[in-house]
Amino acid sequence: MNSTSAEPELSEPFLLGWLSSLGLDVEYIRGEGNTLYFLGEDGREVPVLDFAGGYGSLIFGHNHPEIVAHAQNLLASQVPVHAQFSRHPYANDVALALNKIINRELGTVEPYSAIFANSGAEAVEAAVKHAELDRVLRAQALAEEIDAHFEEARSAVRGGTAAVSAAARAQLGLGGGESGGPDSAAVVLEELVAEVTRRNAEQSSRPPLFLSLEGAFHGKLVGSVQLTHNAGYRTPFTALAAQARFVPRERPGALKEIIENNRAAVLDVVTEGGDIRVVPRDFPVFCAFVLEPIQGEGGINVISEEFARDIQEVCATADVPIIVDEVQSGMGRSGTFLASSQVGLRADYYVLAKSLGGGLAKSSVMLVRKSRYRDEFELLHSSTFAKDAFSCHIAHKVLDMLEAEDGKAYRLATERGARLTEMFEAVRADFPHVIKGTRGLGLMLGLEFSDQSESTSEPLREQADFLGYVIAGYLLREHRIRTFPTASAVNTLRFEPSVLLTDAEIDRLEAGLRAVCGLLRDQDGESLVRL
Ligand code: F0G
Repeated sequence: MNSTSAEPELSEPFLLGWLSSLGLDVEYIRGEGNTLYFLGEDGREVPVLDFAGGYGSLIFGHNHPEIVAHAQNLLASQVPVHAQFSRHPYANDVALALNKIINRELGTVEPYSAIFANSGAEAVEAAVKHAELDRVLRAQALAEEIDAHFEEARSAVRGGTAAVSAAARAQLGLGGGESGGPDSAAVVLEELVAEVTRRNAEQSSRPPLFLSLEGAFHGKLVGSVQLTHNAGYRTPFTALAAQARFVPRERPGALKEIIENNRAAVLDVVTEGGDIRVVPRDFPVFCAFVLEPIQGEGGINVISEEFARDIQEVCATADVPIIVDEVQSGMGRSGTFLASSQVGLRADYYVLAKSLGGGLAKSSVMLVRKSRYRDEFELLHSSTFAKDAFSCHIAHKVLDMLEAEDGKAYRLATERGARLTEMFEAVRADFPHVIKGTRGLGLMLGLEFSDQSESTSEPLREQADFLGYVIAGYLLREHRIRTFPTASAVNTLRFEPSVLLTDAEIDRLEAGLRAVCGLLRDQDGESLVRL
């Protein structure tokens, strides 16, 4: 199935070896709709039905003719792909189109400002950077307020109208001040100010904390990998970036508890009724809560409306901005433009990528609601390739296609997804001990197989930690079907085809899955595992 070469393999040879051991090291030479092609031994194209869908980046399939024609026209017209630091009306058009869709879906009117990037993880990090800038500026404003209160206290002491209360001195463990008089009152105040300043510096130098969900995946760059729950990806790099507290899924109350246990306070002084007192003020230690409405890589887990409500309420009370990562679930895949709109979650930030590039461009965007937006960010963050004309025009085309015919694509995602789920349920009903469950929304679906670590078949037992990959290898070898497990929940296969999915394609998948289930039921590891 592969082209061979005498040249050494220098591009991730270890990974290639691993793919090869599973029979997944195929070279695809062409893609169209939900089909990829490789060259068979006889030199003819062999079609493979693709449910991996570019990791969910192909809502309209491989090389959709309308998107391809649009791209060809752009190139033929010599669109200036890279014209940094100039007017980018095409980027604004995408931002306007996104606003129109999102406001309609959320029933809101507040605009969202758009910052473009090139990949999912990059846009997540842009959102995180923006949230951190906002946090730092809020902390600075708080520090300035406290400084102004020091001045108020100083002028009251100078005027003899107030003095540091004994309670305040005791609170901070300070002595002195008994002799009274303006001079010593001033000295006492300066001692108090010095102690408050010292304690506040300690608190405000604490690194920011992120909140994320158990099972979360937000990318693998230096910052985003720390929001990604899988310890294998995350822990070698913890020294490089700020850390997250991982909130258990679907346990209302857990988030509030984590916030309570990690909250920080600074001290402020209040001059009132002749007394100078010390009072605590909440310090913004949480940068943001970052979450996927449907976890992709973590096993296709949809958050419930109840849990979304809990998150919304707790974050609003604690003033923690919510970043909803719709990199995988967004762009119509769930049956609505944003999956979060189906569970009633309203975010301060949205992150989109994958299908925004129409399968041809690499593009992503993060959106910040106006009330949180800091325009200073525009001078602090940029990328050579972000906001380029080609990817913006393609993104606009994809948005037009999603919205066409009164949102036909969203309806298709819902309807095709329901049909696919119905098939999964039918297979599950026939193999209840083999399939543990089906999850997801629209065309972001997962099928969980039962654990095989106690299998009576030795090859199955040995490969139990890679079960999803073994099944993927079998489906490709024997049925010419491409699917992958969710890498952090390896017993779950995920299915993210395009909205063009046909009944015949669903039937082909059904035949493949029934064959897999039969082998697992019979514990026929020899046939399933590539030995
Ligand atoms: N956020 C989510 C929810 C994702 O699913 C991904 C990628 C990213 C961020 C990072 O995007 O790869 O463009 O930098 N998910 C891939 C997957 C890896 O397996 O679906 P990226």
